[in-house]
Amino acid sequence: MLATPGLTALKDPAEARRVLLDDALAGLELVRRFGGPIVDVGSGGGTPGIPLAAALPERAVTLLEAERRKTEFLQRWTEELPNLRVVWGRAEEQPAEAFGVAVAKALANPPVAAEWCLPLVENGGAVVLWVGPSADRAAVATVAGRIAGELEESPAGFVVIRKTGPTPPGFPRRAGMAKKRPLA
Ligand SMILES: C[S@@+](CC[C@H](N)C(=O)[O-])C[C@H]1O[C@@H](n2cnc3c(N)ncnc32)[C@H](O)[C@@H]1O
Repeated sequence: MLATPGLTALKDPAEARRVLLDDALAGLELVRRFGGPIVDVGSGGGTPGIPLAAALPERAVTLLEAERRKTEFLQRWTEELPNLRVVWGRAEEQPAEAFGVAVAKALANPPVAAEWCLPLVENGGAVVLWVGPSADRAAVATVAGRIAGELEESPAGFVVIRKTGPTPPGFPRRAGMAKKRPLA
């Protein structure tokens, strides 16, 4: 395991394993339902993207991260996992519809995360969000409805949004707008 200086506050190895690996792999079957390349938006220290890349070696996985310092750490994992690549940038500034599945954990509150992730996914693909128990699913559904997305049945701890059409004009909104003027 590569060292993660300054990137996680987890001190206990068992707790670190639970948070970083088991939580990430809890979404594996949901991600597997949808084909195509995978993007982990706001990958941070590499979860859930690195465990998913290890579990799905036949799938191309992109770790998208806005902070350059974090991408430098993430880049080291591409030597271990040939299906992994790292992109430094913001979700709102990426080419549209380049992925089959966008995943995100602790990226932003779920409605904002949905707005950032949906334009990255092609028609028929999906966004899989790792969420807490207080996630406002109705707000996520409202956002999804604006960006050609529909909520699917999903287990506790996840929100799954299927992309049901092309990204409408006007999306992605420019950086900062999703938080400044939330859609829901
Ligand atoms: C709280 S961390 C979560 C990291 C990791 N997914 C996890 O669960 O440990 C959120 C990460 O999202 C990144 N981020 C925030 N807004 C972003 C955006 N618009 N596009 C890409 N990355 C973003 C931040 O730099 C940060 O590393």
